[in-house]
Amino acid sequence: MILVLDFGSQYNQLITRRIREHGVYSELHSHKLTAETIKEMNPQGIILSGGPHSVYDENSFRCDEGIFDLGIPVLGICYGMQLMALHYGGKVEKAENREYGKALIDLQDGPILFNDTPSNQTVWMSHGDKVIEAPSSFQVDATSPSTPIAAMSDPDNKLYGVQFHPEVRNSEYGNHLLKQFVFEVCECDGEWTIENFIDMEVEKIRNKVGDRKVLCALSGGVDSSVVAALIHKAIGDQLTCIFVDHGLLRKDEGNDVTKIFSEDFNMNIIMVDAKDRFLSKLKGVDDPEKKRKIIGNEFIYVFDDEADKLKDIDFLAQGTLYTDIIESGTETAHTIKSHHNVGGLPENMQFELIEPLNTLFKDEVRELGSQLGLPDRVVWRQPFPGPGLAIRVLGEVTEEKLEIVRESDAILREEIAAAGLDRDIWQYFTVLPDIRSVGVMGDARTYDYTIGIRAVTSIDGMTSDWARIPWEILEKISTRMVNDVEHINRVVYDVTSKPPATIEWE
Ligand code: XMP
Repeated sequence: MILVLDFGSQYNQLITRRIREHGVYSELHSHKLTAETIKEMNPQGIILSGGPHSVYDENSFRCDEGIFDLGIPVLGICYGMQLMALHYGGKVEKAENREYGKALIDLQDGPILFNDTPSNQTVWMSHGDKVIEAPSSFQVDATSPSTPIAAMSDPDNKLYGVQFHPEVRNSEYGNHLLKQFVFEVCECDGEWTIENFIDMEVEKIRNKVGDRKVLCALSGGVDSSVVAALIHKAIGDQLTCIFVDHGLLRKDEGNDVTKIFSEDFNMNIIMVDAKDRFLSKLKGVDDPEKKRKIIGNEFIYVFDDEADKLKDIDFLAQGTLYTDIIESGTETAHTIKSHHNVGGLPENMQFELIEPLNTLFKDEVRELGSQLGLPDRVVWRQPFPGPGLAIRVLGEVTEEKLEIVRESDAILREEIAAAGLDRDIWQYFTVLPDIRSVGVMGDARTYDYTIGIRAVTSIDGMTSDWARIPWEILEKISTRMVNDVEHINRVVYDVTSKPPATIEWE
């Protein structure tokens, strides 16, 4: 395992990611880990990340300097290299301005991290301070016009530092450098794969659970589905899943989940039909935030009621991802919308948590799902919000309006899949604004609903752009919606990005 210590750089997750891509397991942890804890974790190498601070700032992040005495190879990146330089007696100069962007470095003879790469290469710099004098036990491995020590090393003690960011694609041979560090310096074997992750986790879950029982809130989304499949592989019938149908699901979603999990996977599933319960709570409510709160709370009450009926449950399984853990460490942003996650832990429940995905990234979870035999439509399912179609019917939610959204959404999904665009467009759905307009159908006047199509490209949902769906496909979708869905006489396409809009309309 390669341990990455986090000093706050925006690229930190990337370091972990790149190393895993080389088949070496890697974890990102706080810079506050003590040398003793690290010794117990027994990593084969340590990477000190970059960070936004100056090593001279009063509150700058430091690490336990005992890590340098553990005899474990260390690679310092940017801020990490400066910390290393200071520790070993080098000099770091405080800068007034940051150097940001591509730079050309010149290699000295033979540094192992740069083996087989050209002596002039482009790297990505993003730093203020810089090392101006290497510690006496170190050699200078690379220089650049503005950074006299762009890389340095003490090969006998397996200590390396680079001022640039090898984890960023703009560093031409950065990936090679990380590979050299993990294989040539740390001597990792590169055998980490999702298959052996499954074996390891199955073993861990069995040891932890023993003959006790686990409960899982299954939403049909990627994360909870993969958790359920993984735990089921480990403990079979000791797992029970609860699937709450709040009546706000997409067309055929409930049946599909039942089919996959209870028929194909043979899992214990409790399907809770809570449609009336949710719809009656939502009656007369048109404020989006109130709708979200009602649904979030009601979900917990329903889950609570069902869990109460079960006996002897000790564990609750959750599909927390690595990114959720890393991101929860950052400052809370303004609440634009209060997100509700199906499967959120009811506060007064006394379960021990099992979170087997909490070291994985989303694409790794998808691969895991495929390896566990989940169908593509689950593994590649587009994001679907916890409050479901309730936030796609603007204003008051009624059964009739839900039906219009459900049917139009099904047409959209069919046509996007038929056009082969379902993997390119990040999320696509229909919304029903609370407006009606005049139309003409078969020589008669109509006064009916307008449906909105929303389709966006995005990496993580934080920002997005509207998808450029070809006109002919939009035309087909529009024609089908107006012809096949009752009460639609007009179709509009949302061409706003996020920001300033959000992806969902409520
Ligand atoms: P917005 O509308 O905020 O959505 O741009 C960003 C992404 O989050 C999804 N979303 C939710 N997901 N619970 C969820 O689990 C929620 O309450 C929720 N609200 C929005 C949205 O579909 C998009 O993918």
